[in-house]
Amino acid sequence: MRHLMSPLDFSVEELEELFILANDIEADMGKYAHACTGKKLATCFYEPSTRTRLSFESAMLNLGGSVIGFSDANSSSAAKGESVSDTIRVISCFADICAMRHPKEGAPMVAASHSSIPVINAGDGGHQHPTQTLTDLLTIRSLKGHIGDFIIGLCGDLKFGRTVHSLINALMRYPGIRFVFISPPELRVPDYITESLKEKDIEYKEVISLDEVMGELDFLYMTRVQRERFFNEEDYVRLKDFYILNKEKMSLAKKDMLVLHPLPRVNEISVEVDDDPRAAYFKQVQYGVYVRMALILTLLEIKLT
Ligand code: NCD
Repeated sequence: MRHLMSPLDFSVEELEELFILANDIEADMGKYAHACTGKKLATCFYEPSTRTRLSFESAMLNLGGSVIGFSDANSSSAAKGESVSDTIRVISCFADICAMRHPKEGAPMVAASHSSIPVINAGDGGHQHPTQTLTDLLTIRSLKGHIGDFIIGLCGDLKFGRTVHSLINALMRYPGIRFVFISPPELRVPDYITESLKEKDIEYKEVISLDEVMGELDFLYMTRVQRERFFNEEDYVRLKDFYILNKEKMSLAKKDMLVLHPLPRVNEISVEVDDDPRAAYFKQVQYGVYVRMALILTLLEIKLT
């Protein structure tokens, strides 16, 4: 039995198979409409989420399966003091697969080690968010035809943004990727990440000004300042509008650069950018459903003949 805790749990070749399956789903959803009949997905969300939870639920429903779960720790037995390891043992009796989001780093890993069903990490604290990364990679691959040989700028909260950490981790394995980290000094990408880039001899630079690098980028991955992970409101208020992507900034970018964002957006992308053909963040949401469908099928070992 397999779980998904980090994007590195799948080899590059296995990811390739997953993306091929996701693109096949995109081309012919009807073919997969009953693939999970009789199967249940449990969504155990101890932290607020709309997109990720609904994306998982929509994925399972598209496959003909059903969904149970909770979207708030206060409405689950966690409020009574139940441990994650007990909860997953119980959920294992109710469902065939579980997607778990938790504010504590490593909680889904603890769940996986006590589970008799596949567990998917749907975001653990500031640590990892592997299914967002699968979404990001599928979007890149589908819109550009391949993953590799590009310059990607990651902009905003690179310190607390788990989608950023997961994505960098995953992209390190592809050839010819160069990273540009754009953040205020307080929200720099963690040292463990730059250390591992240095170790692997992967080119990166850290800058404060978005304007300065805009013209070099093939992808710009914008992120929200993660208010819930700040220690004080004052710092959040000071940093929240540090970057605002608008038409003027977009005019500095390449004609075929693509803007990605895991969403939710706050102020970091002005709505005037939404109509720009280079804005790919809503397409990205759609790819998130296809890739989660492909992931559920893969972890449940369901193959259509
Ligand atoms: C992200 C998350 O939860 O980390 N959202 C998501 O899952 N699409 C990004 C964010 O909350 O900023």
